[in-house]
Amino acid sequence: MPTPTLSDDAVSPSGAPSPDGSPEHAPGWHSGSWTGRPAGQQPEWPDPAALSESLAELRRRPPLVFAGEARRLTEHLARVSTGNAFVLQAGDCAESFELSTADQIRDRLKVILQMAVVMQYSAGLPIVKVGRIAGQFAKPRSKPTETRDGVTLPIFRGHIVNDIAFDSQSRTPDPSRLLQAYNTSAATLNLLRAFTRGGYADLRQVHTWNQEFVASSPAGQRYETLANGIDAALRFMNACGLDTDDSAMRQVELYTSHEALLLGYEEALTRTDSITGDWYDCSAHMLWIGERTREPDGAHVEFLRGVHNPIGTKLGPTATPDEALALCEALNPKQIPGRLTLISRVGAGNVSASFGPILRAVTQAGHPVVWQCDPMHGNTYTTDEGVKTRHFDAILAEIQEYFAVHAAVGTWPGGVHLEITGDAVTECIGGGDDLAKHQLGDRYETMCDPRLNARQSLDLAFIAAELLAEVI
Ligand code: PEP
Ligand code: CO
Repeated sequence: MPTPTLSDDAVSPSGAPSPDGSPEHAPGWHSGSWTGRPAGQQPEWPDPAALSESLAELRRRPPLVFAGEARRLTEHLARVSTGNAFVLQAGDCAESFELSTADQIRDRLKVILQMAVVMQYSAGLPIVKVGRIAGQFAKPRSKPTETRDGVTLPIFRGHIVNDIAFDSQSRTPDPSRLLQAYNTSAATLNLLRAFTRGGYADLRQVHTWNQEFVASSPAGQRYETLANGIDAALRFMNACGLDTDDSAMRQVELYTSHEALLLGYEEALTRTDSITGDWYDCSAHMLWIGERTREPDGAHVEFLRGVHNPIGTKLGPTATPDEALALCEALNPKQIPGRLTLISRVGAGNVSASFGPILRAVTQAGHPVVWQCDPMHGNTYTTDEGVKTRHFDAILAEIQEYFAVHAAVGTWPGGVHLEITGDAVTECIGGGDDLAKHQLGDRYETMCDPRLNARQSLDLAFIAAELLAEVI
């Protein structure tokens, strides 16, 4: 994690327009201006007074991240936008309060570190690491309710809103969960900061874990060349007397991100930075807008256009070049490199037709975006047995198509956005261990979308590393 400086800490609570008016890049904006726009995917809180109390309490709480850290991430992402770095954004689809344990957090971090090392070696470029972690608690849903055996209840919207158990009490939106989300995010961040600075992320250790994976993987032979290359590089550095105890070897920067879905929560954690006077959403370093809430004149775009964090927006199969351009204009009118990430999630077989025209239009207009491929959300399907899953091959195919379209246009593919876990779950089919459909029931634990397990994530990283080596 980046080290916060004292001055970063000096921020003031939000709630009112900044004293000197709206930000220069976002005329008419203030932290509550989103309330004048249609806001999709907001829960119906049955107790407005309790909601107000929770939000007021959040406004009094310290920021979870610091403005200076978010600025640093924007700088890293600016390097991605010019082809000088690659971004790996990965983590849970929906984090759970109960499963935000030390072991779970450590194992998710471990996989992200392992994936980043192989990709970094192949690309010969820095890998910017962004977790879907420490705040990914709110989920957009396609329907507001769920019916089972004739009983209809509010849909599960993520632990920040309600619980997944199918009974009336669990499903009723509970504003005290906003505070629990804040507390869980704070505890997760605290542990991540300790792990990433305290020696756990040591490159030699991460490499040893990768060697263990390669040795045990049926696809190990294919990965061996790459793993041996990293081994040789480490020995060479050692032989040269390069200090392998250097902090660059022992520490990493991991940034946090989540979908900025619950705008009341995000607003309550928005502060002005005392150094620049700029507004930052201090709930995470990076925030993104989901596929279901990306209307250019909607509340989510209105809120995020005013904060200075790096932000992203998903673009699904129905997104048009004009919509993408409108989002670039609304979210990054000053064309600041690293500010805006466009995340394509169109599904395998569809990248050239759906995403190609957007890539061309935005490139032609000169917007300095970070391009990113989410190969997960366009490839979800339900098996005949009613299990929501994704096939590893489709995930891989979307990434390959995405690289091919960028190669054709002459642009930098930028990064990938993945739903993964450090656990040995059985939620996605395929991968090096060839997980079969009939195994899905063995350890199906996700509260929302199917995630790659640790070994499938590493399979993907090794193959993505090969793709990166080809385009460098
Ligand atoms: C997600 O990232 O978990 C998600 C819901 O994605 P999308 O908005 O692209 O459907
Ligand atoms: Co998801």
